[in-house]
Amino acid sequence: MAAQPPPDVVRRVRELREALREADHRYYILDDPTLSDSQYDDLFRELLALERRWPALEDPASPTRRVPGAVAEGFEPYRHPSPMVSLDNVMSEAEFREWVESADRFLRSTEPRTYSVEPKIDGVALELIYEAGRLVAAVTRGDGEVGENLTANARTIRSIPALLRGPGVPEWIAVRGECYCRKADFEAFNREAEAAGERTFANPRNFVAGSLRQLDPAIPAARPIRYLAYAHGGVRGATYATQAELLAALRQMGLPTVPEARVVEGADAVVRAYEDLLARRDRLPYEADGVVVKVDQARLQERLGMRIRSPRWAVAWKFPAQRAVTRLEAVDWSVGRTGVVTPRAVLEPVFLAGVTVRHATLHNLDELARLDLRVGDRVEIERAGDVIPKVLRALPEARTGRETRVRVPATCPACGTALGRDEGKVALRCGNFACPAQVAAHLVHFASRGALDIRGLGEKQVQQLLEAGLVKDAADLFTLGAEDLAALPRWGEKSAANLLAQLAEARRPPLDRLLVGLGIREVGERGARILARAFGTLGRLARATREELLELDEVGDAMADAVRQWFAEPRNARMLERLEAVGVRPRRVEAPAGGAFEGLTVVLTGTLATLSRDEAKALVEAQGGRAASAVSARTHLVVAGPGAGSKLTRARELGVEVIDEEEFLRRAGRGR
Ligand code: IVH
Repeated sequence: MAAQPPPDVVRRVRELREALREADHRYYILDDPTLSDSQYDDLFRELLALERRWPALEDPASPTRRVPGAVAEGFEPYRHPSPMVSLDNVMSEAEFREWVESADRFLRSTEPRTYSVEPKIDGVALELIYEAGRLVAAVTRGDGEVGENLTANARTIRSIPALLRGPGVPEWIAVRGECYCRKADFEAFNREAEAAGERTFANPRNFVAGSLRQLDPAIPAARPIRYLAYAHGGVRGATYATQAELLAALRQMGLPTVPEARVVEGADAVVRAYEDLLARRDRLPYEADGVVVKVDQARLQERLGMRIRSPRWAVAWKFPAQRAVTRLEAVDWSVGRTGVVTPRAVLEPVFLAGVTVRHATLHNLDELARLDLRVGDRVEIERAGDVIPKVLRALPEARTGRETRVRVPATCPACGTALGRDEGKVALRCGNFACPAQVAAHLVHFASRGALDIRGLGEKQVQQLLEAGLVKDAADLFTLGAEDLAALPRWGEKSAANLLAQLAEARRPPLDRLLVGLGIREVGERGARILARAFGTLGRLARATREELLELDEVGDAMADAVRQWFAEPRNARMLERLEAVGVRPRRVEAPAGGAFEGLTVVLTGTLATLSRDEAKALVEAQGGRAASAVSARTHLVVAGPGAGSKLTRARELGVEVIDEEEFLRRAGRGR
């Protein structure tokens, strides 16, 4: 047994823990810190020293446990005490009012009800289980029934109390809320990471999700992640008559709750509250992607009850895609892996939908002409979810006369070769296959997630390898040695070893991924899968006739021709020989059986927040389904995101099941 500490040590440890807990509470909950950072650190270190000296004083609820030990717990499955459902979405006032009317019908009453209107925080849902006020588990949503137990990581988040406080602590409670990162903290983190040459994140939600799923709690501990509570998933030893009362009780217990929540009476007041939050959206310190409207009275919540996967008493009313006005500082031209030269808007940085936007796509010359942009123009841009921002229009009324015309380059910005235009196409193209920008873009593509998925080989690393003369094409990657890499600036033994391990794995890619990586025009992830399944090997595909290709469902003239042309090109044949010579052997891919969408025809419509269209289609197919583009009587399922229009209407007319992105991810086993 560990030695027993003297009473004054016991007392001091208790004092220190109290003081640190109070400091966390004042900082995170009351937003009124009383200790400076260095005072906090001093107390913290004193406590840590005493705990090390006297192991008998160990307590998982101690504030020092926010600095994790070395042992990763791994993520065990954890069954939610009650299913962690998601909410139905509405996209417009009309849809919101329909929701109110359906509740009226269900309750057989049109009396105005009170509602809690809360921002819908865009983070990662997390359930916290407290037994007698002590945090015993922190669980992600998972599939709604069973999530991952992230308790060790949650303990590192200082706004999650390890002990609840006050007289109102129930015997047992499952608190539900969101892990999130403030916009300002996120920006600062990315800036520092970028300066240090480390990985940056696309938006606060990805950042939080990625951080929570780290096996080493030191990672989330070092990141600015916070928690907000907004519901419970079961409670023993207390009752709450309203949502407002629940939020007040959670706050009393020391849990931060959604700050902007307010209770209003009647649907009209909800509409005003929604509009108010929408207008203030950019000024909120966190990302919100809509509001959550909840029937306030617990009694009515119970009567309304649940549908299969969502409660009838609450609904998520999403915000529309975000727009902002900024200035066009320049247009730059980038050379893609096929030599196409595309214009890109360089913008005065503006914070929009969770990220700082510095660039927007201008697609091609036609789009540029249509927009009639001048450098120096004020422009309106739009960003929806993870989609690349785009320029919607210039604001000619804001012109000063000093704006200048956009110049279309006559020669390749990377290699100086005269640019040409494909017949009948709008694309500008650099015809030099050795153009360094093309080679670099091809290598980045080859290593990208949809292709060979070689982690640790991004734009910067590719640039380094090219500059050092270590690679000239994709096959050269497989000849790299540890010494080559370790000699590069900012590469250590570890990063070199990691990349070599990744490359070793990439030698046996599924055929479809290799096809994606080769960069055959017209052949995306979906096309590659169809070809790989139909032909089985590279050799058979190389010999396929146009007719054989066209026999395949979904392969049209353009893809068939592009495939034939690619294999006919001697340069490409040489590249395949070289890949074979360095040991790259693609594997056959079989059609999967038993997936979540087995045998189903699924239509995707509207914008999806976390997936690109191609990723979503890939997910459908990976789970045995077929992604179709039109809704018909043969459609089984429609996945609708914001902005869904006629397809959604058609689906409703036909009575086809409609689900949102979150539900889609959940069924695909990717739910958060
Ligand atoms: S209430 C039954 N309130 O949005 C109540 N959810 O699809 C369930 N979210 O799963 C959730 N802010 O991850 C609620 N103020 C808020 C929220 C919120 C964000 C998330 C949560 C939920 C999803 C709804």
